[in-house]
Amino acid sequence: MNLFNFSGKVAVITGASSGLGADAARGFAEHGADVALLARRKEKLDSLVEEINQKDGGRAFAVACDVADEKNTQAAVDVVLNHYSKIDILLNNAGVAFGGSVESMNDADWDRAIDVNLKGIIHTCKYIIPGMRERKYGRIINIASVNAIIADKPAALWRHAYNMTKAGVIGLTKGMAASYTQYGITTNAICPGLFETEMTENTLFKATDFLHMYNALCPASRPGAKGELNAPILFFASEGAGYVSGQYLLVDGGLSIV
Ligand SMILES: NC(=O)c1ccc[n+]([C@@H]2O[C@H](COP(=O)([O-])OP(=O)(O)OC[C@H]3O[C@@H](n4cnc5c(N)ncnc54)[C@H](OP(=O)(O)O)[C@@H]3O)[C@@H](O)[C@H]2O)c1
Repeated sequence: MNLFNFSGKVAVITGASSGLGADAARGFAEHGADVALLARRKEKLDSLVEEINQKDGGRAFAVACDVADEKNTQAAVDVVLNHYSKIDILLNNAGVAFGGSVESMNDADWDRAIDVNLKGIIHTCKYIIPGMRERKYGRIINIASVNAIIADKPAALWRHAYNMTKAGVIGLTKGMAASYTQYGITTNAICPGLFETEMTENTLFKATDFLHMYNALCPASRPGAKGELNAPILFFASEGAGYVSGQYLLVDGGLSIV
């Protein structure tokens, strides 16, 4: 069995316009999947589609989608189903991160984090799971964060809405796994440690104190490298992982165990 052979499989990746989502899209396509790329910035998706389709056997297409908007997400899923006629794999990767505490944030801030990080997953799942149930096959992978498990003490790093929503991703993952694994649909979560992306390049990666602290604490003594999240994602997405469900995997160089 070629464990990482995704030919004939259709993978939807949210937040594919940059960072970890774009890398995952490349990873799925390199291993034979037909990929559908969702995010709001269509021009960025289009250039990734071009890059993937230029490679031998690469098949990608893009749909502009704001996952925080239920109707918009439903329409995007319809476009994907019209194009590929099925969805086997859903990577819920779209997310936002920003600083703030229970004292400093207002309701609009909390709503922004909940709308993307939690409702974004709920919206894609609501419209993709019915087809997976019919076909008795599905692999759902939700991107949470190491910040679902551990939080930062320095005031400059307080991100309570991020901690809360990413912990919620793990709870939602378990609930969905308990319900849908019997229909052949597994749901798992991945908790990345620090990776350099648009989300972190001008914030955490610019704060040399933070980087020093991270590297000193992290058993791997470094942030995650580009593409280093792909193998864990592909594992959960693989056909062979059908008996793995409701789990969360920390991909953090060991940060959370020290
Ligand atoms: N980088 C890290 O160190 C790290 C660590 C732990 C967890 N994570 C998680 O990893 C995931 C990917 O983040 P990243 O680091 O790759 O950051 P990124 O480069 O900023 O990517 C975030 C992606 O989410 C998309 N997005 C944001 N709001 C959206 C919305 N309303 N609808 C659709 N797409 C939306 C963005 O696309 P558009 O702006 O084009 O919509 C972008 O493609 C996030 O869930 C993040 O929380 C990252």
